[in-house]
Amino acid sequence: HPELECARSVVLVGMMGAGKTTVGRRLAPRLGLPFYDADQEIEKASGMSVSDLFAAHGEKSFREGEARVIRRLLEGPPHVLATGGGAVTHPETRELIKKRAVSVWIEADLDTIVARATKRNTRPLLQAGDPRETLERLIEERRPYYEAADIHVESQSGPHSHTVDLIMNALE
Ligand code: S3P
Repeated sequence: HPELECARSVVLVGMMGAGKTTVGRRLAPRLGLPFYDADQEIEKASGMSVSDLFAAHGEKSFREGEARVIRRLLEGPPHVLATGGGAVTHPETRELIKKRAVSVWIEADLDTIVARATKRNTRPLLQAGDPRETLERLIEERRPYYEAADIHVESQSGPHSHTVDLIMNALE
């Protein structure tokens, strides 16, 4: 049995490397909801990897595809959704999240984000330049959007289950 009935979707926002996917996957069964990862849904819909999509069509086109995928999900039945770190830069996506979901910002400190986001070479935005500088700039640009989330949790060092517990407490 789920511990909590949740009538709305729960949308996780925050920087790449904050743990949205891992946390979302563990949070969903505790709410009795299915889990979706926006990046994976984009890859499924396009038949291409996020990196290839960026390389072939550019960031703007990726953002449009991302917004479409998120819209399709949020207009459907409740679920837990891990968004890509930049999804909140799209005004329609922000509006839709506000209207249809409970949003959760998972915040992690810069060191943690740099370490996690550079572990595998899968983040197109980190291909050029110094990853730390890029991530720092992106955090500053996106902070106002992340701060608008309904719930704010700090990504816990150690097992992600602590972060899941914090979100469960905040949802109750
Ligand atoms: C991005 C984050 C990535 C992915 C793409 C762009 C971003 O998702 O959507 O590389 O702009 O922050 P994760 O946050 O799941 O890594």
